[in-house]
Amino acid sequence: MKILGIESSCDETGVALVEADTTGTPRLLAQALYSQIDMHQAYGGVVPELASRDHIRRVLPLTRQVMAEAGAALTDIDVVAYTRGPGLAGALLVGAGVACALAAALGRPVLGVHHLEGHLLSPFISADPPKFPFVALLVSGGHTQLMHVRDVGEYELLGETIDDAAGEAFDKSAKLMGLGYPGGPALARLAEFGDASTFALPRPLLHSGNLDFSFAGLKTAVRTQLMKLGNVCDQDRAHLAASTQQAIVDVLVRKSVAALEATGLKRIVVAGGVGANTQLREQLNAACKRRGARVHYPELALCTDNGAMIALAAAMRLQRGRAQPQADFSFSVAPRWDLAAA
Ligand code: KG4
Ligand code: ZN
Repeated sequence: MKILGIESSCDETGVALVEADTTGTPRLLAQALYSQIDMHQAYGGVVPELASRDHIRRVLPLTRQVMAEAGAALTDIDVVAYTRGPGLAGALLVGAGVACALAAALGRPVLGVHHLEGHLLSPFISADPPKFPFVALLVSGGHTQLMHVRDVGEYELLGETIDDAAGEAFDKSAKLMGLGYPGGPALARLAEFGDASTFALPRPLLHSGNLDFSFAGLKTAVRTQLMKLGNVCDQDRAHLAASTQQAIVDVLVRKSVAALEATGLKRIVVAGGVGANTQLREQLNAACKRRGARVHYPELALCTDNGAMIALAAAMRLQRGRAQPQADFSFSVAPRWDLAAA
């Protein structure tokens, strides 16, 4: 069974072709990605209308490229999967519309996929995939959640952010420091030249006794610190970047360990853009090693948004009979969509 996956929920157009037998881990045959980052950079963040229009321009050329690289014809596709949500409504509609049009033309069914399910299953495309059950730490630009994952489609929310997401905290702090968009990678690069112990920034809800997060206060603390410093020199900016990153990493590591303790599980999967952060990886690896737990990450290229994770999530659901592909093409998108209800 060959599944085409189309991702268009935010500022990346991703297309991929995955091959799945009735059991076993699906194989990635080819994937292609176009990032709109350069286009949005001038505005300091994603402009939804521009994102939608650019998805329209990219999605068919990327699909042709994927099919050529996989050495497959469009008629070889058995199911067309697309990101149904959550994300920007207009951007999602482009992927959904193209997926349904393509499926209708080919006489194949379609399947709408939850974007975060794609992220949390993405480590299965690796030489050493995780085993169920596991804890998942989902850290993207819009979400920060800890889930208890019993199997594909069996997700229990353990805790989540009550305000800003971890990625948002990176992005907003970076913007205040005058770094580019997206702020996470830029802030992480600058932090390499700073000392994380320079500024005492808050770690909200660190000792809350539950698995929820709160990051909104961090950007306020960063703003206050910048105002105190007045004319910020490059070294202070690097110190502030390092201190900000450490505040976010501290909370993510502490709560991840608490989730492992609460569930009694010894495996954690980290997914979403912030999962690319080197400090988070190093410190979470060390904390889990001390407790005899294993951390699984997607390959670096699959940490941020991509089509492979969408095709993979569709494939894994279909293998387990946990999804019914649609053949009526009356598609809808779900800009806000709870993963536990997917
Ligand atoms: O999962 P993702 O690609 O898109 C969403 O679904 O939101 O995550 C994007 C987020 C952004 O906030 C970006 O700044 C952050 O991931 N990010 C990072 C790093 N790479 C991406 N944050 C910290 N360190 C990084 N290396
Ligand atoms: Zn994402």
